[in-house]
Amino acid sequence: MRAVQINQYGGTEVIKVNQDIPKPSVQPGQVLVEVHAVSLNRIDSFLRSGYLQQMMPMQLPLTLAGDFAGTISEVGEGVTDFKVGDEAYGQAGVYQGGSGSLAEFTVAASGKVAKKPTTVGMNEAASLPLVGASAIQGLEEHIQTKTGQNILIHGGAGGIGSLAIQLAKFHGAYVAATVADSEADFAKSLGANQVIDYTTQDFTKVLKDFDAVFDLVGGETATKSFKVLKKGGVLVSMAGQPDQQLAKEHEVTAIAQMTQTSTRQLIRLAELVDSGKIKPQVDKVFAFTEAKEAFDYFEQEHPKGKVGLKLKF
Ligand SMILES: NC(=O)c1ccc[n+]([C@@H]2O[C@H](COP(=O)([O-])OP(=O)(O)OC[C@H]3O[C@@H](n4cnc5c(N)ncnc54)[C@H](OP(=O)(O)O)[C@@H]3O)[C@@H](O)[C@H]2O)c1
Repeated sequence: MRAVQINQYGGTEVIKVNQDIPKPSVQPGQVLVEVHAVSLNRIDSFLRSGYLQQMMPMQLPLTLAGDFAGTISEVGEGVTDFKVGDEAYGQAGVYQGGSGSLAEFTVAASGKVAKKPTTVGMNEAASLPLVGASAIQGLEEHIQTKTGQNILIHGGAGGIGSLAIQLAKFHGAYVAATVADSEADFAKSLGANQVIDYTTQDFTKVLKDFDAVFDLVGGETATKSFKVLKKGGVLVSMAGQPDQQLAKEHEVTAIAQMTQTSTRQLIRLAELVDSGKIKPQVDKVFAFTEAKEAFDYFEQEHPKGKVGLKLKF
């Protein structure tokens, strides 16, 4: 089979479409999936560049990417929730107990797979797993978003942010989002009540007494976020460890989120999509053979929502 792999860490020039790769063999608790579509996440770029090689040493060659949508072509011992031919979506990254999703076939841990939402196509479904699970974990599990709350979402036009705005609105929150000026209309179209241009405006001068901040940016943005929270508020950051001393001083809770995608979250995500509560946001889809171009676009062109690759037409 063909797979998009790296044989060494580096920039997008190290990405190769390798031929005649053996189809991965399915182990107990896993499923083998014929991949139709894939989407890219920041971690795929970090893995390729070698940025994570100390924390997550990987064996090379490495098949890139994790998020996928496709059809189940084999089920491993002990897997009862899926049968051959089911349309499914989930995560198959090498760091998620899978073999990498940018390949004609991938194996995934069955606990990171669910039936695909029925009302959207393969490209849309593949755009969802990590960002959707992240939005659910942040807004429904950590923040427990409710009607009437004020929530600030940093990075509202990105993969997670574009779903998080919709999910927070569905729960009845007033949503402010930081985005670049060119992304303001996009964020408003997703339901944001207020958009703040992070390139020219200081959000701490515009907002105060918020119930929660969902931070998808990190660094100084996370640190300054304490100023806009009311006492008893919550900061959830997906891009670093928030300062616990500052949290104490401001009398708020600060959580560093590591998304643990599960079948349960993917089922919830499919329900939200199929009931029209959230819509997948796909900026651009590339052919499988254009993997280098897809990563270049993803890393340099400030996409709105997700960047995908299609294996089957
Ligand atoms: N902890 C975990 O388990 C986990 C899981 C998934 C993702 N993450 C992390 O979560 C973060 C968000 O992920 P993602 O998939 O949504 O990434 P993404 O698609 O790259 O979106 C990030 C967004 O942030 C915007 N941005 C950049 N600087 C900003 C600033 N100073 N203020 C406001 N917005 C700013 C970007 O806008 P421009 O287009 O203008 O640059 C982009 O739209 C990333 O850091 C990722 O690595 C963590």
